[in-house]
Amino acid sequence: MGIRSYPSVVDGSACTYIKNVNSIESRSACVLTFGCQQNEADSERIRGILSELGFEIADDYTTSDLVIFNTCAIRAHAEDKVFSLLGNLKAQKRANDKLIVGVMGCMAAEACTVERLKTKFHYVDFTLEPNSIDMLPKLIFEAMSEGRRRFALGIDRGDITEDVPVIRSDNYRAWVSVMYGCNNFCTYCIVPYVRGRERSRASADVLRECRELVASGVKEITLLGQNVNSYRSDLTFAELISEIAEIPGDFVIRFMTSHPKDVSDELVSAMAKYSGKIAPYFHLPLQSGSDKILRAMNRTYDREKFLSTVERLRRAVPDIVLSTDVIVGFPGESEEDFLDTLDILRRVRFDAIYGFMYSEREGTRAATFDGSVDKRVRSERLTRLFETQEPISLAMSERFIGRDLNVLVYSISDDGIASATAVCGRLVRFNADGIREGDSVTVHITGASSYELTGEIRK
Ligand code: SAH
Ligand code: SF4
Ligand code: F3S
Repeated sequence: MGIRSYPSVVDGSACTYIKNVNSIESRSACVLTFGCQQNEADSERIRGILSELGFEIADDYTTSDLVIFNTCAIRAHAEDKVFSLLGNLKAQKRANDKLIVGVMGCMAAEACTVERLKTKFHYVDFTLEPNSIDMLPKLIFEAMSEGRRRFALGIDRGDITEDVPVIRSDNYRAWVSVMYGCNNFCTYCIVPYVRGRERSRASADVLRECRELVASGVKEITLLGQNVNSYRSDLTFAELISEIAEIPGDFVIRFMTSHPKDVSDELVSAMAKYSGKIAPYFHLPLQSGSDKILRAMNRTYDREKFLSTVERLRRAVPDIVLSTDVIVGFPGESEEDFLDTLDILRRVRFDAIYGFMYSEREGTRAATFDGSVDKRVRSERLTRLFETQEPISLAMSERFIGRDLNVLVYSISDDGIASATAVCGRLVRFNADGIREGDSVTVHITGASSYELTGEIRK
């Protein structure tokens, strides 16, 4: 693996060409993001590159001259959404012959999807896989100057590209990717195939970025990685997060997503030690409460290990907010296995869960497994999953009533309602009453639903 600097690897003559074309005619570009926070962060870099090339960044793709779809391949539903939106661009291309359409992100790393885009979507000019963002100017140049279609696949060399320009979409909350890719090969999951092997950024680069963000007034830094706590460079993740916590300033650190196998004692201790800086929040994806299914999923932990990890976190960080991901209807999941999942939800009492129906992904090992669960059963289990969790989420929310929480305001609606995140990650709404976006205030909590809290500003 190598670390490369964007300015030194990008095709300079392609950039010059695009900039000159843009100085003659103003061009607008829109990046649409699907999928996880990793994609949100990548889209900020894509916008940074496009802006540097002279494009004006727009929100409305229907009137843009360059449209990039930054896609997600995690479930069939995510892909269907992209294909259906892409269909709208056919007429747009007919009306605007200068329109350039690119597909990036995780779908652009799947051979079968790229083939489909190439043969069935003639107005798609290029595809580019997630780890090769430095190729973007070259592909735009080829589409612009020669009308050439390019489907860049299999070019990821496992490198990390630093110093990519970035346009952050929020002034107070920033994403910082610390590692990319995944080595775990959970049997249902497409991510290791589309994002490649794990690679971690050098700690010095991460720390420099965090220092710059804090100096620019950012109040919340979220460290990102497919398995963020598997980060490993000259430092472990626990060491990295401790060093970030030592940066002077008024800010909070979050991180996602963690793999339960890498919740080290050192990480738990760091969260306790830096409790003022590291948010008391942990997203710990369970996936299933059945040992048989966890084994078939290749998750490498069992119920007992998972429960003891929760226990360790709760002991070290009192009142920690916990959330999780659950898949229902994995091949071979019996009613009994599913009841084991409900049982673990009742035992752990997560603050929030994200539940998904299993979606078969071509190329993954689970796609070859027997015991497919009927679609109706999957859907019924998902409903029961949410019904079981709902009263738990509500009770977990209600525990905040009567308390004062420090929150960061991220938006204020026209009718004067502030939306904010509490340090623990909870969504809080209240009457804005003279405060502004980016303000940190203390809110006295007076009401709770299963997914948000309401309250009043403490004067
Ligand atoms: N790296 C993270 C998250 C990966 S994707 C982790 O290890 O947990 C986010 C969530 O999507 C997963 O936690 C899982 O619950 C869900 N997911 C992944 N593949 C899926 C599939 N094929 N069908 C349904 N849900 C899936
Ligand atoms: Fe997918 Fe598993 Fe990797 Fe998470 S750890 S990205 S679920 S393979
Ligand atoms: Fe989707 Fe890729 Fe994220 S598949 S969930 S956008 S890593």
